Amino acid sequence: MKFFIDTANLAQITEANELGILDGVTTNPSLMAKEGIKGTEAVMKHYKDICDIVHAPVSAEVISTDFAGIVEEGKILAAIDSNIVVKVPMIKDGIKAIKWFTDNNIKTNCTLVFSAGQAILAAKAGATYVSPFIGRIDDGNWDGVELIGQISHIYKMQGFETQILAASIRTSLHIVRCAEVGADVCTCPLSSILGLLKHPLTDLGLAQFLSDAKSMQ
Ligand code: E4P
Repeated sequence: MKFFIDTANLAQITEANELGILDGVTTNPSLMAKEGIKGTEAVMKHYKDICDIVHAPVSAEVISTDFAGIVEEGKILAAIDSNIVVKVPMIKDGIKAIKWFTDNNIKTNCTLVFSAGQAILAAKAGATYVSPFIGRIDDGNWDGVELIGQISHIYKMQGFETQILAASIRTSLHIVRCAEVGADVCTCPLSSILGLLKHPLTDLGLAQFLSDAKSMQ
């Protein structure tokens, strides 16, 4: 399973990248706004800055909702760097645009996916990635990870090549459960990635080893 970081914060992206296990980045307009970025030029520069840190897929989301607008915006985003993946919402014109991008060799990430039916449509259009939002599903008292498993089963049975990118990750346990049910990628906040490191027995064991090593000096 690949690890993407779900942020537009350059310090966090750098920290995750330095771990050596980062396979990409996802952003969305809310994450970009959180960084205080204003204006088209600043947005473009920020995407370029991310691409210069992580030489791997970086999802940049369109804000148009009509076919022509999504295609125009996507072409501009894709021209920023060869690692840009155009992130397109799961709407009718979005599906049409994903098919256009597929036919024109531009990678896509179909976002705001909450059902298996939507995931089938994204795969039919040739999306490179499909992003089911598992945390937001959990927020509504459903099990988001179950949806990842369902999509994984369908894609395997039908031979779809779209990669399942589990998004809206809230906890380290989400990452483990997504790995169990066949997610191809998890895009996570830095805290959830670092949370995977933690176990009290590791801390206790290390403290003991270090103290015993000291007693031998
Ligand atoms: C990433 O591609 C999604 O936009 C993101 O994971 C959504 O996360 P949220 O539900 O925490 O906003």
